[in-house]
Amino acid sequence: VRSPIRTAFVTGASSGIGHALCRGLLQRGCAVAAAARRMEPLRELEAEGHARGVRVLAVPLDVACTEAIAPALARAAGELGPFDAVVANAGRGRPLRALEWDAGSVREVFAVNLFGAVETLLAAVPHLRGPGSVLAGVSSIAAWRSGPGAAAYNASKAALSSFLEGIRPELRDLGIRVLEVNPGFVHTAMTDRNAFPMPFRIGAADAARRIVRALEGRRNRLAFPLPMALLMGLVRRLPDRVFDALNLRVSRRLASAGVLGREIPSGSPPGQAPSP
Ligand SMILES: NC(=O)c1ccc[n+]([C@@H]2O[C@H](COP(=O)([O-])OP(=O)(O)OC[C@H]3O[C@@H](n4cnc5c(N)ncnc54)[C@H](OP(=O)(O)O)[C@@H]3O)[C@@H](O)[C@H]2O)c1
Repeated sequence: VRSPIRTAFVTGASSGIGHALCRGLLQRGCAVAAAARRMEPLRELEAEGHARGVRVLAVPLDVACTEAIAPALARAAGELGPFDAVVANAGRGRPLRALEWDAGSVREVFAVNLFGAVETLLAAVPHLRGPGSVLAGVSSIAAWRSGPGAAAYNASKAALSSFLEGIRPELRDLGIRVLEVNPGFVHTAMTDRNAFPMPFRIGAADAARRIVRALEGRRNRLAFPLPMALLMGLVRRLPDRVFDALNLRVSRRLASAGVLGREIPSGSPPGQAPSP
């Protein structure tokens, strides 16, 4: 079945969800501009497109260089024509502990997950086909409540979700749909680093199928898989005291497993915490 999405631009296309999404789209006959820093996986997408007779354009792009985003979109639209869908998917995670923080790494996370995504979506507006086009941002279920040891990542996703909600009405007025995608755990390079249990983790191809359906559909929000969305819906409603106790417990477990830097002794005041 041919997709109603005929041309798409996807960031973070070199691995995980973005790579699987590009494959899902091109397998449905959609021409894809696939953007990332690593070119080799983008060349693989080009080869798959070539074999299927579908146009795929590999776009070298570091979304942390926000000034490079608009020219990359313009060049891709020049080659493939206006986009029916633009997906700001590029993202990165970094563990962060309150007492071992580092402003530089917080900025790096925001540079990609928030500023990179915002620039991708807003700079794309002039290159959309018009009414019926969709702008999608890959946020996270982690935007709903901050998880243990990942305050910067979670804050960047909460900001992105809020941003998407904020631009939605004006764009809807132009006939452009804004789609917020909130995955739970997905099996990718990002989660392969996690040395803790990840409930209800699904494969990247499965995640991509759900995103393709949502791009082709009419909704504004997508959260998956359902059991994780329900679980986080409950976690979101926990009283702060209960949530904080759980969060601290998991953070300590991650720290003692070496996932989150060095362990902070129970009850140690900020001044006495081990220095990084
Ligand atoms: N996996 C999960 O469980 C999960 C859950 C919720 C949300 N998400 C979100 O889903 C998105 C995709 O993540 P993933 O799990 O598929 O991770 P991944 O396999 O690590 O892929 C991340 C992608 O982002 C790109 N990227 C990172 N920094 C970039 C930069 N400065 N400029 C351009 N591209 C950059 C990477 O490409 P290059 O390194 O080649 O540039 C790569 O293609 C992210 O936004 C992530 O936060 C993931």
